[in-house]
Amino acid sequence: MNLILLGAPGAGKGTQAEVICEHLSIPTISTGNIIREALKNGTEMGLRAKSYMDEGKLVPDEVVIGIIQERLAKDDCKNGFILDGFPRTIPQAEALDKMGIVIDKVIDIEVEDEAIVKRMSGRRVCESCGASYHLLYKKPAVEGKCNKCGGTLIQRKDDHPDTVKERLKVYHDQTEPLKDYYAKQGKLKIVNGQEEVADTTRLTLAALEA
Ligand code: AP5
Repeated sequence: MNLILLGAPGAGKGTQAEVICEHLSIPTISTGNIIREALKNGTEMGLRAKSYMDEGKLVPDEVVIGIIQERLAKDDCKNGFILDGFPRTIPQAEALDKMGIVIDKVIDIEVEDEAIVKRMSGRRVCESCGASYHLLYKKPAVEGKCNKCGGTLIQRKDDHPDTVKERLKVYHDQTEPLKDYYAKQGKLKIVNGQEEVADTTRLTLAALEA
């Protein structure tokens, strides 16, 4: 199954992607994680993306489209994949169509802006593998350490409230129109994000079956 996870920053796309990845045994492709990894490795693309990311803006379409094209050509995507954080603009969605990629379902996780701003202050991510945790809602087994790889948990630079507000603005202006784009194709499934991760997960798994 070829899936897209849509939703505002912090709506829980990454968290649900992990669940679906296990459930369907297909890889998650997170453009955000790929860019952060490139930045960590000091590549040209990572350095180019840094200023956009730090300000809560979108990285230019041609950069992310290139990343996705390269990643989807890999063998592990043959039986399906989950796109987490791509597409984020209409030109990115059109680029997928031009690549001949057929999307089966688009799961849109809906959470109010106010709840997101609160949520993001508690997020911690693994600096090694990118796994996402929360100080209240998804605690790691050992404080400050990743359950999966033992890496150190840090706060993302772009999770500070002012940057989160900018990211939400960008989401409403540039990404939200994708809901209509995929609704018109009959592919959009809406999941109302719940306060507990497990409750959202139940709804996501039901949306996959619908
Ligand atoms: P990216 O890394 O994709 O960030 P994002 O979409 O802004 O979303 P997040 O990863 O912040 O949130 P999420 O929805 O995955 O939430 P999570 O599950 O972690 O992108 C970062 C930047 O990269 C962009 O701003 C842009 O600059 C650039 N970029 C990336 N892709 C791009 C593209 N295609 N085009 C252009 N630029 C691009 O959950 C959040 C927190 O809440 C966690 O702590 C989690 O544990 C907790 N949580 C999750 N679910 C629940 C729940 N149900 N109840 C309570 N807490 C919950």
